[in-house]
Amino acid sequence: MTVPEDLFQAAMAARQRAYAPYSHFQVGAAVRDRSGAITIGCNVENASYGLSCCAERVALFDMVAALRTEPVELCVVADLPGVVSPCGACRQVIYELARDAVIYLCNTTGQSRAVTASDLLPFPFTLTREEDAPRS
Ligand code: THU
Repeated sequence: MTVPEDLFQAAMAARQRAYAPYSHFQVGAAVRDRSGAITIGCNVENASYGLSCCAERVALFDMVAALRTEPVELCVVADLPGVVSPCGACRQVIYELARDAVIYLCNTTGQSRAVTASDLLPFPFTLTREEDAPRS
């Protein structure tokens, strides 16, 4: 499954907005919900490095703030020889907020790989029994 061009371009545009003065590593993300609306995110760093936030989480948190609850596709893009692979913290957030979405991991040349939330995080942390866990 290749990444839809419009979603990829939205993530590429978001990547240009990255605030990454420390790592100089720009990441873009775009999430599409069932209605077709796209929410974007870029990584936002901080002089207190641990406060930095990844592009995936910025996109998914903004999706929640925009009252978009049914993500169907998430695209993440960075400039790497192969496709980007989300960090552990983002995997946990993706699992909770975009569990049923197709997740396209990409690089800036357009290479993409489609995975699921469970592919990324097969044994997620939950506060409750799996079947009771909150969904989007
Ligand atoms: N980063 C992301 O935005 N997403 C990822 O999947 C991995 C890492 C950001 C965090 C930080 O601003 C920079 O990339 C270098 O780690």
